[in-house]
Amino acid sequence: MGSEVSSGCLHVSARPEAVSAYGRLMSLVTGYEDVQAVLADGRYAVPAPPPPGPVGSVSWLRASVCRFANGELHDVRLSAVLEQLAGLSPAALRSDARDRGAALLSEGRFRGGASEAHEVLSRPVPMETLAAAMGFPDPRGTATHVIALAGGYFPGSSPEAESRADAGLAALLAMIGSEDSAVPPLTIMVQACEATAALISRSLASLEAAGDAAGTWSSEALLAEVVRHWPPAPVCRRQAKEDITERGVTRGDEVLCDIESANHDPAVFASPELFDPHREQPPNLTFGSGIRPCPARPEALALASGVIDAWRECYGPSGQAPRPATNRAGRRPRPTP
Ligand code: HEM
Repeated sequence: MGSEVSSGCLHVSARPEAVSAYGRLMSLVTGYEDVQAVLADGRYAVPAPPPPGPVGSVSWLRASVCRFANGELHDVRLSAVLEQLAGLSPAALRSDARDRGAALLSEGRFRGGASEAHEVLSRPVPMETLAAAMGFPDPRGTATHVIALAGGYFPGSSPEAESRADAGLAALLAMIGSEDSAVPPLTIMVQACEATAALISRSLASLEAAGDAAGTWSSEALLAEVVRHWPPAPVCRRQAKEDITERGVTRGDEVLCDIESANHDPAVFASPELFDPHREQPPNLTFGSGIRPCPARPEALALASGVIDAWRECYGPSGQAPRPATNRAGRRPRPTP
């Protein structure tokens, strides 16, 4: 880490610390108040994604969603997303994610501990649940394609991940029919996918690591502390639209807001490195802050809670899945696909 210097009220690192998805160097912002200040400052925008390829490609989707747009275009696109989100009930999402998770755990499609759950449970169950709630006819197939899409959605993805994402998107567009009406529902699904899966897997791993003590944690408290401690979206990128002289920032400079560091700021969180679901905590910054926070915090927590409900119903309140037997070579049997 470079040494930290105070530049106005914002602490930015003395030298650029991080390399952006496009290979540019960026300044890191790490303090809680400083991250809040950048995310609330209209002089910063979300960096534009690289120029789009053909209609129907993942690069076209990036250029079509609210997530990478700014100003009025962002607001118009976001309002279409909010309209669709308004049709989703967090309580119904939780209950359906619980039912789907319970079915999967009881059907024998999953054997193993928390570390095996990511691919089999944490990724597909929330996506199947969202797909069903949004009226997709084949929730399981939809989830598979969304997972492929999500793997190459963010700028900086590898060419291989982008080509799997292109294939997933092509299958989804064939299901939906029209490219334009596809953008809001696909924005929701693709934004939800990796972050929600990471939240669930981290929560299951925390239960497993804590052993019997985890039995005293409510699922709400567990999720709140996992969200703070291991933010599934650990950074937010911004680019200065103009010179921000009092902060030593020049137009075009990129700034990386380090949410994980902000959530461990000792000025705000007591004993920040301690994982403690019983802690009283001020709001953390995991779902963003300021001008354009995540619009789906309740839905994300509902989906994750539903899967954790199923896990705890299956393995008890402390969520200790039995370790699968190993064969003579010391390998675990592969989970049934
Ligand atoms: C643990 C799960 C999640 C986390 C941590 C998370 C976090 C975030 C963050 C930090 C942003 C803003 C990024 C920025 O300002 O640069 C964002 C945007 C967004 N998220 Fe989430 N998210 C999660 C789950 C979801 C879910 C489940 C949905 C949909 C059901 C969703 C939909 C969106 C959308 C549509 C945006 C773009 C908003 C805009 O362009 O203004 N997210 N999310």
